[in-house]
Amino acid sequence: MSNTSSLDVAVIRKDFPILDRMVNGKPLVYFDNAATSQTPKQVIDAIVDYYSSYNANIHRGVHTLSQEATDKYEQARLKIQRHFNAAKPHEIIFTSGTTHSINLVANGFSSLLQKGDELIVSAMEHHSNIVPWQMLCERTGAMLKVIPMSEKGELIMDEYRKLLSDKTKMVFCNHVSNALGTVNPIKEIIEAAHNVGAAVLIDGAQAAPHIQADVQELDVDFYTVSAHKMCGPTGVGILYGKEEWLHKLPPYQGGGEMIAEVTFEKTTYADLPHKFEAGTPNICGGIAFGAAIDYMNAIGIDVIAAYENELLVYATEQLLSIEGLRIYGTSENKTSVISFNIESIHPYDIGSILDKLGIAVRTGHHCAQPIMDFYKIPGTVRASFNFYNTKEEIDAMVEGVKRAKAMLQ
Ligand code: ALA
Repeated sequence: MSNTSSLDVAVIRKDFPILDRMVNGKPLVYFDNAATSQTPKQVIDAIVDYYSSYNANIHRGVHTLSQEATDKYEQARLKIQRHFNAAKPHEIIFTSGTTHSINLVANGFSSLLQKGDELIVSAMEHHSNIVPWQMLCERTGAMLKVIPMSEKGELIMDEYRKLLSDKTKMVFCNHVSNALGTVNPIKEIIEAAHNVGAAVLIDGAQAAPHIQADVQELDVDFYTVSAHKMCGPTGVGILYGKEEWLHKLPPYQGGGEMIAEVTFEKTTYADLPHKFEAGTPNICGGIAFGAAIDYMNAIGIDVIAAYENELLVYATEQLLSIEGLRIYGTSENKTSVISFNIESIHPYDIGSILDKLGIAVRTGHHCAQPIMDFYKIPGTVRASFNFYNTKEEIDAMVEGVKRAKAMLQ
């Protein structure tokens, strides 16, 4: 792995065994990183090591394996705390991923809201940051308001400010749009929400692989992350919550691990973070998430971001040279995601032809149907780049798109 300030992609690629495989007789070109990133051998080794050497349940046994597993799991929590600069380790709650993290908060707010309260969501959210709040509104009688977006795929901040009032109890927004790549001005969003006394949850799933977030500097109340978007395994993620909020919220699930004392008359809950971690967690996943954070930090998130931006600029230029191709999401401030269509060709047809050429992109609405409705399209082809991708791979995709266009028009 490269430890220098610039990124040696040839060396990096050797860390990712999957990048050597063939798909449909062609070398794999993996451009579906916004859906899930690939896994370096350092993370795969951490998984193998766990199951080969110290697989045991945590926090329960006095035996050596249980203690080793507990230590490694808690070390992973500390790595994640340091990475996001949370003030305290118990502000990091392990979850199964961003969707679980958001549902945990939405469920907790049921007891804190009443009819007439207002919640604000952005127009460019993933369904996982819309549906739990709609369900919360149904339970409580609160109302959901929407920050509109512009044709470029940017939030209209003046409209946002007009929506805020003393009725606003929470604001939810992604740090980066999964469908468009737009980096939202979350610091401004958080400040404005706090000025009216509202709490803010930022979905960091698409930002964490590309942007170094500092939760204290942002002064965010809740921040959510999925490990598998940042070179870790699926089925694990975190909720960062400010301590004061985590104390206010009731537990999400009942069970083992989250209690202080149980009798049939009354149960008291464990301290943070265990209050929100009922049941046996994804122990191996948490430890591997820690290994993924180590891996990315050894390269450097800033180094990663600079290289990915080069890929973004190059791919944007190359794709726009294809007549009739339109890119959705043209903010100056975006991560390495390109969503596009060519005239009326269905995105699925382009994606299928690219797959035949060994090129993996995502097609469809990307779990963000309101964005597709805004542009009046059924979906897009989405190419999303990570630091192990290359310009040669982009050339292969551009040739593939030209071929698809010739076949389908
Ligand atoms: N949310 C993931 C994506 O954007 C699955 O593809």
